[in-house]
Amino acid sequence: AIIQRKDYKPFPWLIPQTHLSFELGLEKTRVTATLTVERNPEAEASPTIRLNGDGLKLGEFKCDGAKCSGHTMDGDDLVVTLEGDSHTLTIVTEIDPSQNTQLMGLFASGGMLCTQCEAEGFRRITFFPDRPDVLSTYTVRMSAPNAEFPVLLSNGNNTDSGEGEGGTHWAEWHDPWPKPSYLFALVAGDLVANSDSFTTMSGREVTLNIYVRDGDLPRTEHAMESLKKSMVWDEETFGREYDLDLFNIVAVSDFNMGAMENKGLNIFNTKYVLADPETATDGNFDAVEGVIAHEYFHNWSGNRITCRDWFQLSLKEGFTVLRDQLFSQDMQGEAVKRIEDVRVLRSVQFPEDSGPLAHPIRPDSYREISNFYTSTIYNKGAEVIRMMRTMAGPDAFRKGTDLYFGRHDGEAATCEDFVRSMEDGAGLELEQFRRWYSQAGTPVVEAVLVHDGDTAALTLKQTVPPTPGQVEKQPMPIPLRIALFDRATATHRGEELVMLTDAEQTFTYEGFAEKPVLSINRGFSAPVTVRRDIPQDELVFLAANDDDPFARYEAMQDLVTDYLTQVAAGSQDDAMRAAIGEAFAAIMQDGDLEDAMRGELMILPGETYLAEQVDAADPGRIHEARQGLKAWLGETFGDQLRALHDRANNVPYGQSAEARGARKVKTLALTFLAAADADGTAKRAAGQYDAADNMTDRQGALMVLAGLNSPERTARLMDFYNRYRGDELTIDKWFATQAASLHPNVIEHVKALAEHPDFTMRNPNRVRSLYMAFAANPQGFHAPDGSGYKLIADVILALDPINPQTAARFVPYLGRFRRIEAGRAKLMRAELERIAASPTLSRDTHEQVSRSLG
Ligand code: ARG
Ligand code: ZN
Repeated sequence: AIIQRKDYKPFPWLIPQTHLSFELGLEKTRVTATLTVERNPEAEASPTIRLNGDGLKLGEFKCDGAKCSGHTMDGDDLVVTLEGDSHTLTIVTEIDPSQNTQLMGLFASGGMLCTQCEAEGFRRITFFPDRPDVLSTYTVRMSAPNAEFPVLLSNGNNTDSGEGEGGTHWAEWHDPWPKPSYLFALVAGDLVANSDSFTTMSGREVTLNIYVRDGDLPRTEHAMESLKKSMVWDEETFGREYDLDLFNIVAVSDFNMGAMENKGLNIFNTKYVLADPETATDGNFDAVEGVIAHEYFHNWSGNRITCRDWFQLSLKEGFTVLRDQLFSQDMQGEAVKRIEDVRVLRSVQFPEDSGPLAHPIRPDSYREISNFYTSTIYNKGAEVIRMMRTMAGPDAFRKGTDLYFGRHDGEAATCEDFVRSMEDGAGLELEQFRRWYSQAGTPVVEAVLVHDGDTAALTLKQTVPPTPGQVEKQPMPIPLRIALFDRATATHRGEELVMLTDAEQTFTYEGFAEKPVLSINRGFSAPVTVRRDIPQDELVFLAANDDDPFARYEAMQDLVTDYLTQVAAGSQDDAMRAAIGEAFAAIMQDGDLEDAMRGELMILPGETYLAEQVDAADPGRIHEARQGLKAWLGETFGDQLRALHDRANNVPYGQSAEARGARKVKTLALTFLAAADADGTAKRAAGQYDAADNMTDRQGALMVLAGLNSPERTARLMDFYNRYRGDELTIDKWFATQAASLHPNVIEHVKALAEHPDFTMRNPNRVRSLYMAFAANPQGFHAPDGSGYKLIADVILALDPINPQTAARFVPYLGRFRRIEAGRAKLMRAELERIAASPTLSRDTHEQVSRSLG
């Protein structure tokens, strides 16, 4: 069935109290739910109450303590006829967590029990109105064998505990904050905690625990530091304070997503908790910090104010992503973090927005909500709120968020509520801006600057491309930060914010005797594609001189993108390549640049991004063009790159910006050298590997070696495996590094790794390490004979019965066929059709495949 946003109706019943009693066991868990139900005075009255279920078998059922007959099953749901205004329902279900391979609801992971309820997992535990606008106060009692499950956790506060019969014990938890069912959580297992405490701004003492398996305790320090920093930052930046005496985090190895913000009991994928220098890269450290912050920030943007329905998902996700991005900018430095965030947006969200799965940040319909935890909802959602912040300025924006938090605290709210708070609190006029919520597709802005006499005239034209179900589009309000540079002095008169609101507008600037150089969409102030008509030498000028770090990066990217798309189309412009070389050399030598930023400027645009810039992209030619440029740069600037590598190699390990930057340019230098000189670089990379005292250097070197045909490759891959055997997250890296490699035989390698004893389809991290890494590796995935497509289609078919949510996440890679050249497009489409023909597809995969086929 298709669920429509316009069909929203409040639920006819309130559930003021929910009491859950669990008799826990890995293979058999018995759940007794006791719900108080009352008619909802704000809703249309109904003679029945519908309690959602998913694969549940009803045991006992009582109404007001007595056996009752007025209930039937409707599909998976339990429908109860109720007279009168208030009742107590008692519902018993029995579930087998060990068989729950979907990892939704209550499931077993490495001998422990844990839950994932967002979006619709609670209905796999008990019958309940499993929708985010039904808020209830939860009391939970758990009993379990003491030896197997010494730690028993749920939301809120631990109110009581004791010993039971036959080696069991029990615990009672109460969460004072009413919440929707998707925020319920329970954990039982043999865990140890890193414990700490935090005093909030009003003086509340909060106990902090990070629960992990025994051996993982030494890897939790970074997560704990990140949590405390997040708590301070949210007080200082958004005025948000924590509201319980206890904050628990639990790390689990089997998890579909990154983490989950359950009230007072966040559950995390181990990948976003555990980090130490020996096993985590700098990127992993940053991801831990960002995800810890993200889930913590949800306590206000998500939990205190939740979503009325799942169409409003971006209300909490877009806003919370913006909050975690701003936090990380403050922790790590604004320029580099902004560039990283834009790179993710362009390589994942832009392709989504230009393909068959395009949807607005507030969708109008869905079949399976799990399919809408997308980069559009999260990352574009964050960009849309960031634009409001840019238009209002940080102080007025804060007034808007204060009003939002105050006005809607305790409610299940809508995106419209957020926009209205921004209008009333931040003083913005957002009538037209609401189109960012309703229209899908990445706007394209064409910019032309004309100089005449004393005047510079900037003409901006926007188009919003058609997307599925939305053929006609209205102009969007697009805030563009711009500056006009004086070529001779490399200065400008100050930045300004231009609002493009119509299809076409011209803005004029007086007092320019010479034609200025246009710097536009500085800081990436709007999530659009800018096509600027600008001479190449002006891009070179901006790449060397722009004082906005993002704009400087952008100039370099545009320069390389123009060149590479031309090469891929069959015309090689040596003058252009020479200009890129000059800019590249200047970046390597610029003594004022920090290495972290130097690295950003040196990174060439990715193949997915390049493919997006043309119609009917040929991934093979794009790959060759990009490798060709890398080889030329590696050859031409070999001495400088080796000098850069040597210099960076001498910086000792540490977490300072300087040391982290050095590690970034170190491996980057190797990637250029490897393209030019495989044998020499294999030795150099092996040297880096052998000398490494941290995972960033070690995995960086291994990544370079994995793409080369050399004896060093085999030896280091074996060493890495033996060194880290049994360490799940590090062995994930071993799989991913090989699947993402530039090696010509990558498909054979992936097929062989699938047979490795450490590979399993049951663990999402392992599946993603091998197969997502491969699907995102253009040279393997887009093999001209279609074998990469077939491999991924086979994965989808094999994984779908085990874990449909994870299986469905592979579909978009095949779904991009409309933007790929005809030969490959046909092969991709054929694989989608082969999947579609399977008679037993899950709702998740079925929706994605049928939308992709159109
Ligand atoms: N709310 C979580 C987060 O972004 C993600 C949960 C996703 N769950 C799912 N079934 N898709 O922090
Ligand atoms: Zn989130």
